[in-house]
Amino acid sequence: MERKKSSLASSTPNISPSAAASNPYTQGLIQFQGFWIPSRHILTSSIISFQKYFQAFDDDIIVASKPKAGTTWLKALVFTIINRHSYTLSNTPLNSANPHQLIPFLEMKIYIENSNPDLSKIPSPRLFSTHLPYPMLADSVKRSNCRIVYITRNPFDIVVSSWHFTRGVHNLPDWSLEDCFGMFCRGEEGFGPFWDHALGYWNMSMEEPSNVLFMRYEELKEDPMAQTKRLAEFLGFPFSMEEEKTGVVNQIVDFCSFNNLKDLEVNKTGKMPRSFIPSNKLFFRSGKVGDYVNNLSPAAVERLSNILKEKLSGSGLTF
Ligand code: A3P
Repeated sequence: MERKKSSLASSTPNISPSAAASNPYTQGLIQFQGFWIPSRHILTSSIISFQKYFQAFDDDIIVASKPKAGTTWLKALVFTIINRHSYTLSNTPLNSANPHQLIPFLEMKIYIENSNPDLSKIPSPRLFSTHLPYPMLADSVKRSNCRIVYITRNPFDIVVSSWHFTRGVHNLPDWSLEDCFGMFCRGEEGFGPFWDHALGYWNMSMEEPSNVLFMRYEELKEDPMAQTKRLAEFLGFPFSMEEEKTGVVNQIVDFCSFNNLKDLEVNKTGKMPRSFIPSNKLFFRSGKVGDYVNNLSPAAVERLSNILKEKLSGSGLTF
């Protein structure tokens, strides 16, 4: 069944040459297919390859997100849920590999390394991930019945998290939060605008709830047990009564928690091979909800709130 196109309001970001002039990260952002893409990954050609060659299977699972929304956490949960009958928590590959290695990015890993890889032999369900907005997914994903799990997060925490991460990855101690925030408000940030990214998946989760699950970082924090059960059910790997009684859900939640993952040696001192991220520890900063109050002024919060109100108006999506 062909999926309907989401009714995404198109909003072309304004380009501010002054904001982009200050550092290599922002200089590398380019507008591509209606979104801001970090070209440092040579992403445009890998995106085109993904769109052209990727053949989705109905039992594929795709983890989708904007950077800094909780991708690493969600990948750990999805991997553990799907593989819980193959691995125990003491011998799971998550003990020796970062979650991004186990659920690789389509556009930032798989199609960068090979423009037309043979993915057909990967045991099912195949697990992939993407930071691409819904409209940029390969048509074969939209036509298939594969499952997409999207995670989002309040954008105030995303800005702050992004700012820390980008400064760490690109060694930009002088890049100001004001500059980063101003760009975010203009939609001018990796895979942004934030609101269009979230809206694409939000609309699809409304139109096709059995294919697209919309999750929120804050809800996962608030009630990880309930959200993990919801996730497992959506993925087609629900927990049995027996598993619930014997504490399996609890153990998975604890294993994938911020404190546990960040203290694994691979995430404390490891680095992913052939990755531009200098250290896995950059994926684990504070893991809190509402940390933005320590960084953003009330005026800044009001400014972004007003933008969101306008951009999301009528969609039913709020932050
Ligand atoms: P902070 O910078 O606010 O701490 P992503 O994985 O999409 O890059 O998002 C990174 C954010 O998720 C960071 O937020 C990071 O600390 C947080 N994070 C990583 N693993 C987590 C986990 N297991 N539980 C909760 N938050 C986690």
